[in-house]
Amino acid sequence: MTQIKKYIAPTSTVGRSKAVKKFTGTVKKTYYRDNLVDLNHGNSLEFYSKWPTPTVIVSDGGYGILGFEGDTSNHLGLPAWYEPHIAEWSKKAIPQTTLWFWNSEIGWAAVNPILEKYGWRYVNCNIWDKGKGHIAGNINTKKIRRFPVVTEICVQYVFEARIAELPLKEWLRAEWKRTGLPFRKANEACGVKDAAVRKYLDNSHLWYFPPPEMFEKLASYANEFGDPDGKPYFSEDGNQPISRTEWQKYRAKFNCPHGYTNVWSRGALNGSERIKAPMLNGKAAHLNQKPLSLMKLIIEAASDKGDVVWEPFGGLFSASLAATLTGRKAYSCEIDEAYFNIGVERFLNLGFLRDLA
Ligand SMILES: C[S@@+](CC[C@H](N)C(=O)[O-])C[C@H]1O[C@@H](n2cnc3c(N)ncnc32)[C@H](O)[C@@H]1O
Repeated sequence: MTQIKKYIAPTSTVGRSKAVKKFTGTVKKTYYRDNLVDLNHGNSLEFYSKWPTPTVIVSDGGYGILGFEGDTSNHLGLPAWYEPHIAEWSKKAIPQTTLWFWNSEIGWAAVNPILEKYGWRYVNCNIWDKGKGHIAGNINTKKIRRFPVVTEICVQYVFEARIAELPLKEWLRAEWKRTGLPFRKANEACGVKDAAVRKYLDNSHLWYFPPPEMFEKLASYANEFGDPDGKPYFSEDGNQPISRTEWQKYRAKFNCPHGYTNVWSRGALNGSERIKAPMLNGKAAHLNQKPLSLMKLIIEAASDKGDVVWEPFGGLFSASLAATLTGRKAYSCEIDEAYFNIGVERFLNLGFLRDLA
């Protein structure tokens, strides 16, 4: 009898090997630090506990394509590869933290359940479209049996804010119920016809985070007219309601730059931007290097100057460089000596990391 195969190998993606086998440059230390950057040679799992709370985490790690030493050979290994990192991110994240998760679609699909398990809430999937130039002349359309791939994705997650162990949406509804007031009174509290109940006390995916001024109105109405026995309402410490300023901190930062959608059309890295390795006669140093422009885009959208950005899988430290150039504080790690050193040189060449290096 024919045995049913339990596992069917997924379509193979590009099996790429490491570009630089050994670093032969001059940089020798295992860490480089100054006021804006903290770059380390090592395993990020050993550094998370020492880094300050992140406002942004840019993850560009395993893709399941053997893209670097230690990457898995297909997406099925990715959940186990990422889980210890995601667990650590969740220990240090706060409701203001945004995670940008770079990957292939199938890689992201495999890891999404782990992200959700640890409290990361999916917001949006952004597509980096490298354009046809990316595959020009490289594809045998008679053979490949699928459409040529010219994209990577960068998925936005926020760290689910909870009060009394409830996600905010549920906590707001639970607090209002505790007051004993009918839901429609929330409209009166906010001075609107029906928008408060429809938006802020909604139980579906159409729920809106109440802006601070609306939250304040809900809270003060509840505390004035709600059942006296249950007071205070909309409080975290049980003494006083959460203030307007505190409420703002229960939400990740986001400033949408004008003219952008979730499709980012930007060619793959070209000649001048791609870092070359001197010991490779000028060939690309890292096959996964990301464009600085896209790293700047996501960092600036989700943080302010002075905020902390983590880049757990440094490579050539593109996110950290983007963070530094935009006035954020970058913390990163790269496990491979060659990539670490070439990445550090990018900073040194721009005059960063000199003072305290
Ligand atoms: C996809 S590449 C990142 C490329 C980077 N975004 C850039 O633009 O240069 C992933 C990198 O993570 C590194 N890496 C993998 N596991 C790591 C770990 N546990 N700690 C630190 N670095 C790690 C790999 O050596 C590889 O260089």
